[in-house]
Amino acid sequence: MANERIYNFSAGPSMLPLEVLEKAGSEITNFGGSGMSVMEMSHRSKVFLSIFEETKADFKRLFHVPDEYEVLFLGGGATLQFAMTAMNLITRTGKADYAITGNFAKKAYEEGSKYGECRIAASTADCNHTRIPKQDELKIGSDASYFYYTANNTIYGTEWNYTPVVPENVPIVCDMSSDILSRPVDVSKYGIIFAGAQKNMAPAGVTVVIIRKDLAGNALPYTPIMLDYAAMIKGDSMHNTPPCWNIYMLGLVLKWLEKQGGVEGMQAVKHGKAQLLYDFIDNSKLYKCAVQPDSRSDMNVVFTTGDAELDKKFAAESSKAGMSNLNGHRSVGGMRASIYNAMPIEGVKYLIEFMKKFETENG
Ligand SMILES: Cc1ncc(COP(=O)(O)O)c(C=O)c1O
Repeated sequence: MANERIYNFSAGPSMLPLEVLEKAGSEITNFGGSGMSVMEMSHRSKVFLSIFEETKADFKRLFHVPDEYEVLFLGGGATLQFAMTAMNLITRTGKADYAITGNFAKKAYEEGSKYGECRIAASTADCNHTRIPKQDELKIGSDASYFYYTANNTIYGTEWNYTPVVPENVPIVCDMSSDILSRPVDVSKYGIIFAGAQKNMAPAGVTVVIIRKDLAGNALPYTPIMLDYAAMIKGDSMHNTPPCWNIYMLGLVLKWLEKQGGVEGMQAVKHGKAQLLYDFIDNSKLYKCAVQPDSRSDMNVVFTTGDAELDKKFAAESSKAGMSNLNGHRSVGGMRASIYNAMPIEGVKYLIEFMKKFETENG
């Protein structure tokens, strides 16, 4: 087993495509004849700047980012964006509306509330976040500086299957950390999209921000310069040293993504991959998925046997069978299979075969 790769169902950091890891491995001591690793290069060097430019151009092309948007590669993880989005956008009216569909949305709301009046546009806390609110449940004021939501709720296994409609001139801020690059997105409907890299894009350490350029330049007066989008745009993500290695890795993942048919190619397979699991769970006597069918995530499939001890046994035995990280988030328990872009369909089928066997032995 020591040299074999396993099916890693981790919610993040997550599996990366094998060919990306092999390519990075082959270049780790000497990138493209430069005589050094990307990890050792000046971020101002010609060779790194060409990696940076190519990665940015590939991202813009593959994610269909319109010209009036800037793509930034920042540090601080998605969590820093909870504060950064508020500090930059809330100045317009001092108010903002949040859809609370899980833990990360709540954290963003709490962080935003430090900088202005943040209101709850909708909350699914009453049903333990097992569904996504419908459009007609969203209370979004025309006086909101922005409307905020989390596209895919990694812990609860729910995903918005629509882009919310908002009052005119209210930009949408969206955390796409756990489903970015899994489907085409009409970026023009958004003010800011951000995503930590460690699920669908690259190792942890870079956060991709897509921002409509005219929204920058309105930060609160005490905003640290590193949290001011205008400064980040002006410096082209290089106001200070950017996460160079992670940007390079993102570049490799984007080349891989392109070979898979881009975000359109990913969309064509991701739903079928998830549905295999949901269909199996719904038809089984042992496993249950509490998430409403129309709100189920294609990225994080949550399920349980309904018995905490049996769930623990499932996690232990699945690990022995060559799979990892199938236990649910510590706040909800049960199991969770995170099946991001890099998880091949064979991994999902392998998991289902294991689930069948486990059901026969323990059902
Ligand atoms: C949807 C979502 N938002 C935000 C975060 C936090 O990301 P980070 O650890 O990069 O701050 C996560 C992490 O799992 C997430 O799944």
